Amino acid sequence: MELKELGKTGVMIAEIGLGTWRYQGGVEPLRKGIELGATLIDTAEGYYTEDVVGEAVRGVRDKVFIATKVSGRHLGYDDVLKSAEESLYKLGTDYIDLYQIHWPNPTYPIRETMQAMGELVDRGLVRFIGVSNFDIDEMEEAQSYLNNYAIVSNQVRYNLNDRSIERDLLPYCEEREITILAYTPLDDGHLAKKPGLIKSNKMKILEEISQETGKAMGQVAINWCTSTKSVIAIPKSNGLERTIENCGSSGWQLSPKQINRLNEAFS
Ligand SMILES: NC(=O)c1ccc[n+]([C@@H]2O[C@H](COP(=O)([O-])OP(=O)(O)OC[C@H]3O[C@@H](n4cnc5c(N)ncnc54)[C@H](OP(=O)(O)O)[C@@H]3O)[C@@H](O)[C@H]2O)c1
Repeated sequence: MELKELGKTGVMIAEIGLGTWRYQGGVEPLRKGIELGATLIDTAEGYYTEDVVGEAVRGVRDKVFIATKVSGRHLGYDDVLKSAEESLYKLGTDYIDLYQIHWPNPTYPIRETMQAMGELVDRGLVRFIGVSNFDIDEMEEAQSYLNNYAIVSNQVRYNLNDRSIERDLLPYCEEREITILAYTPLDDGHLAKKPGLIKSNKMKILEEISQETGKAMGQVAINWCTSTKSVIAIPKSNGLERTIENCGSSGWQLSPKQINRLNEAFS
């Protein structure tokens, strides 16, 4: 498993993490993923999967980088602190590696939210602060209220079928060395399925490159995401075999030509 630096923290984390939204696979796939080097696990208070993540990391907590999120409905100062404490309890740990704001919510003053996030780092309950689904203006405003810490990541949707962040958010984050955690990297499984008899041109190209590389289509799709330096991908699977397959998206590289062909086909 290749590693990438989280933001400018000096901390290296796996370039493929394990997503857990709608996760129902129990501890086994998560433990297998960790064993294969996918030592970043993404969860959220809103997923109701923090307890299974806690169970999966028992005994190996120090090897795993846990990313969780405070819900967009809990962004008041006291609510953020309370949510973090509840997440710590469910995860069975005394620190969260990356605490992310799940969605921006203008109902709450972001100043208050960021003060609480800073307070959690001051207290040693959180190591790093991240956001999710924030645009550039929202990131800048959030950062302006965080005096002593940097926002190290933004978790956003990114896959071959949805490249909208390439317009401005991705270049903005790359320039500032802010990590992009790419969610839904398989486009909810669509990029991992062999096309039926009627194949779109883009799926034909993905299939061709899968044959050339000897990698599964989903592995090609995930490897395309992580071919950008600042991007880490967090696919989710309930299944053991698929988790193993997804972890195998790292450790090899698409050629620049193959990346160009994918970029053209999925433009
Ligand atoms: N911050 C946010 O707002 C946000 C939003 C969405 C997602 N996320 C995060 O990103 C993670 C991943 O995103 P996602 O769950 O939306 O989508 P995804 O990872 O693109 O796709 C998951 C779907 O693909 C299937 N799948 C996984 N691996 C496969 C493989 N190798 N071959 C064939 N099918 C495969 C899964 O089925 P099985 O499980 O049955 O294998 C599931 O139906 C989430 O779990 C969550 O942690 C964050």
